[in-house]
Amino acid sequence: MSPIKKVIINKDANINPIWIMRQAGRYLPEFREIRKKNTDFIKLCLNENLASEITLQPLKRFDLDAAIIFSDILMVPFGLNQKVEFKKNFGPLLGDLNLNEISKLDEIDFVKKIYPVYKAINLVKSNDLTKNKSTIGFIGAPWTLLVYMINKQSPKKNLKKDFYKDNFLIKKILIILEKFLKVHIRNQIENGAEIIQIFDSWAGLLDEKDLPNYVYIPTLNLVEYVKSLKVPVICFPRGIQNYKSYCDLVRPDAICIDYEIDPLKIQKEIKIPVQGGLDPKILLTDKENIKKEVMKYLDIFKDHPYIFNLGHGVLPETDPGMMDYLVKMVKDY
Ligand code: CP3
Repeated sequence: MSPIKKVIINKDANINPIWIMRQAGRYLPEFREIRKKNTDFIKLCLNENLASEITLQPLKRFDLDAAIIFSDILMVPFGLNQKVEFKKNFGPLLGDLNLNEISKLDEIDFVKKIYPVYKAINLVKSNDLTKNKSTIGFIGAPWTLLVYMINKQSPKKNLKKDFYKDNFLIKKILIILEKFLKVHIRNQIENGAEIIQIFDSWAGLLDEKDLPNYVYIPTLNLVEYVKSLKVPVICFPRGIQNYKSYCDLVRPDAICIDYEIDPLKIQKEIKIPVQGGLDPKILLTDKENIKKEVMKYLDIFKDHPYIFNLGHGVLPETDPGMMDYLVKMVKDY
């Protein structure tokens, strides 16, 4: 069994496997090289040879325990025929939502549109570099995708005032997302994904009272679906205050924490395997400080099943040398 699965399934607290969110990305010169020649990000995700090559890039440099497939959570709205583009220095920009068109879409059309994503997983899984490592597939949680689909860009700190005005639309989209996210999960697993991570990057925008309808219930449905396929599921509800309630209600196999939550509180309150936490900005400082902060997490979770990761994606300004330093330190602990 791969080390990450040992932690999640066997609750092994004696090992500290590591992978990093956005480990394949702009901080690597070899990624920037490919990206320069491929200005359309969606097209790049749909090129199975390049997508698998990019996925494997960090594994060639560092002794990481997982490959996370190079794709994006917004490939699902794209598969649903909403226009999605990534603008330089701005981020994602989505087109208008056409509910009629989305409602007509069937599973076959959806899978056909994003099929190279699954082929890329297959290529990654069959490459020797991923031997004894986990190949991780992922989805965006329904709430976070709803935010992008309606808001049409990253919400930064707040949702637009009229976000909730069309309740009928919101309900419909959540139903459609549940259906197609299941399709997306199943296809990733059938093509080699051994773990699924659910990214709920905007969970922190919601008031406590709205969490059941938009986060707990829709995510629980998907968590149960992944479990029914006998695959472990990690949830990352970034920015929520109450990780304990989330774990009690959504019941993931492991919980990924952000960098704003106190890891000591998590260690005390949460019984399931934990992943992540370290502030990505720490990697922009010096070795002495990195060591101090990394040791803090490793010490707190010393007797707890723990997968090392950051509390959000690695920043593009990160020096790959610092990543090397981090991975070696975790492995030597
Ligand atoms: O983690 C990995 O290495 C796997 C690949 C991956 C990407 N995006 C590649 C990517 C994963 C798992 C994601 C998830 C994702 N995408 C999330 C959830 C995690 C999070 O960051 O909160 C979200 C919210 C998105 C949507 C998205 N995609 C945004 C907001 C952006 C622009 C911001 C930015 O960092 O540029 C993207 C683009 C994106 N997705 C890049 C990468 C490597 C950068 C693309 C580039 O080269 O310009």
